[in-house]
Amino acid sequence: MKKTIGKILVAATGKGGAGKTTTVACLATHWHRSGRKVALVDADPNQTLTRWHAKGSSLSEIVLRTETDEHAMIPTIATLAEAHDVVLVDCAGFGNQAMVFAIGAADLVLIPVMTDEANVFEALRTRKIVESASTLTRRAIPSRALLCRVKRTTIAAHARQQLIALGAAPLDTQIYDRVIFQEATFHGSSPNVIDPGSAAAGDIEQLAREIEPLLWAAAPIEAVLVHAE
Ligand SMILES: Nc1ncnc2c1ncn2[C@@H]1O[C@H](COP(=O)(O)OP(=O)(O)O)[C@@H](O)[C@H]1O
Ligand SMILES: [Mg+2]
Repeated sequence: MKKTIGKILVAATGKGGAGKTTTVACLATHWHRSGRKVALVDADPNQTLTRWHAKGSSLSEIVLRTETDEHAMIPTIATLAEAHDVVLVDCAGFGNQAMVFAIGAADLVLIPVMTDEANVFEALRTRKIVESASTLTRRAIPSRALLCRVKRTTIAAHARQQLIALGAAPLDTQIYDRVIFQEATFHGSSPNVIDPGSAAAGDIEQLAREIEPLLWAAAPIEAVLVHAE
């Protein structure tokens, strides 16, 4: 059987509460329900994603590994990527070595950022870590900021401008502050399942549409090898 070389999406930022776990859980659910083989890695010692997953609802249908041993991070991700289309890694809310290893393995790093100065500052620091990891691995690791928990579009526009000015490439999609995202954590589910017609589910669908070309644009490794023969 041919090996699947899955894509690796890492959600990282040194700022707690920015929306990493929520983004990972909702995107994973969206892709799982659209027929992709999805795996999750909880790399946060607080294990928020693991608890969400343990509630026995829709998120539990997805394979999850809790991995807080930084030295096991790359083998864990690599093993899951052999058998899944996409592996989503949820990092801790503080920069640690596990986060650096996950970023080193990533096809795309998503940097969730709330619309305040401290979040923007932390997003830029995380982006610098991505740049260092790119230098270390001698390949360009793409990263995008994602404005999360947006309450006011005017302040979001301001944060967006700052991110652009400082070269942090925000996605067009922004995730609005909506109660259903918090509700989903209690249900062990996601807005796409609780209320597929909701605005929150729409946010997630739009996010998936925007990042899919970034993740899957590159030719699969097998295809490149066949072409080179
Ligand atoms: N778009 C949103 N709207 C409302 N609440 C949100 C949203 N995104 C996250 N939250 C809530 O904010 C808190 C922190 O989010 P979380 O995804 O756990 O952040 P992180 O993983 O970056 O620490 C959680 O209680 C979560 O339910
Ligand atoms: Mg988290």
